[in-house]
Amino acid sequence: MSDRTTDAPPAQGPAGRGNPAGRGNRGGPGRAAANAVICDDVTYRFGEHTAVNHVSLAILPGETFGLLGPNGAGKTTTIRMLTTLLRPVTGRITVFGVDTTAQAMRVRRMIGYVPQLLSADASLTGRENVELFARLFDVPRRGRRERVAEALAAMGLTDPADRLVKTYSGGMVRRLELAQALVNAPRLLVLDEPTVGLDPIARADVWEHITRLRERAGMTVLMTTHHMEEADLYCDRVSLMHRGTVRATGTPDALKAMLGPEATLDEVFRHFTGGTLDEETGKGGIRDVRQARRTARRLG
Ligand SMILES: Nc1ncnc2c1ncn2[C@@H]1O[C@H](COP(=O)(O)OP(=O)(O)O)[C@@H](O)[C@H]1O
Ligand SMILES: [Mg+2]
Repeated sequence: MSDRTTDAPPAQGPAGRGNPAGRGNRGGPGRAAANAVICDDVTYRFGEHTAVNHVSLAILPGETFGLLGPNGAGKTTTIRMLTTLLRPVTGRITVFGVDTTAQAMRVRRMIGYVPQLLSADASLTGRENVELFARLFDVPRRGRRERVAEALAAMGLTDPADRLVKTYSGGMVRRLELAQALVNAPRLLVLDEPTVGLDPIARADVWEHITRLRERAGMTVLMTTHHMEEADLYCDRVSLMHRGTVRATGTPDALKAMLGPEATLDEVFRHFTGGTLDEETGKGGIRDVRQARRTARRLG
């Protein structure tokens, strides 16, 4: 990762605080005013059970947007609709103006998706894993090696790239997953619980890489988490989700200010939902990561 290649102005803070639209953060052709994602009145049901209940969201280009809520809130289901894997029963979703139902393939090409359950293959090297995704996502043969090397470098994995993934730490596996999701140069990076199962140091490390990447590429990031401090530190704006509905949306600072000068995001969540977020999803490292790996399914 180099500081020289940057589209972002140096004044841009670590999380782009106070600049939710990422204005000036994109050197690219995108229209600054357009939304990266619009979810308009979206509902999903598993049988009788309404997992997502008339949810509306608008995510601005260049921002890091957090969907916060405890297990079962409907975060993953929302993300799976957004990534075209599930079809909403009411409402409509667009990604950079493209309808997820009508033009699913176009939407998929714009998205890098890191699912909640990990899917790196431990019996391959890091580089081989990323190459696999490059082929899966139709990264043109010409320049593919460079794109793979760039994605690995962006996640700080150049040195261990040719080692088997079974020798990686949990944090390295997660960064490898990010490299896989990055290899098709997505406009929107979707991360479902990107740091679940990682220790605090590995979590901070993953976030440092995501933040640098975002500053460099002006990418829009949508992430889910139930780690409040993480959302507070790294998200420009968050939506608080509880039992399938969005209860509040805003910058972490604005939401906290509604409760008082000393308020934490956790207290804000309790205020709006009556629920709590601090249930822990099993901690653990590479063993959990490996167990979860095989069950993951991806776009493509
Ligand atoms: N495949 C499924 N079949 C039936 N119910 C499901 C399925 N996936 C999720 N659910 C239910 O939908 C609700 C939302 O789940 P999910 O979107 O995974 O929440 P989160 O990601 O916030 O933990 C939960 O009540 C969950 O039990
Ligand atoms: Mg989930």
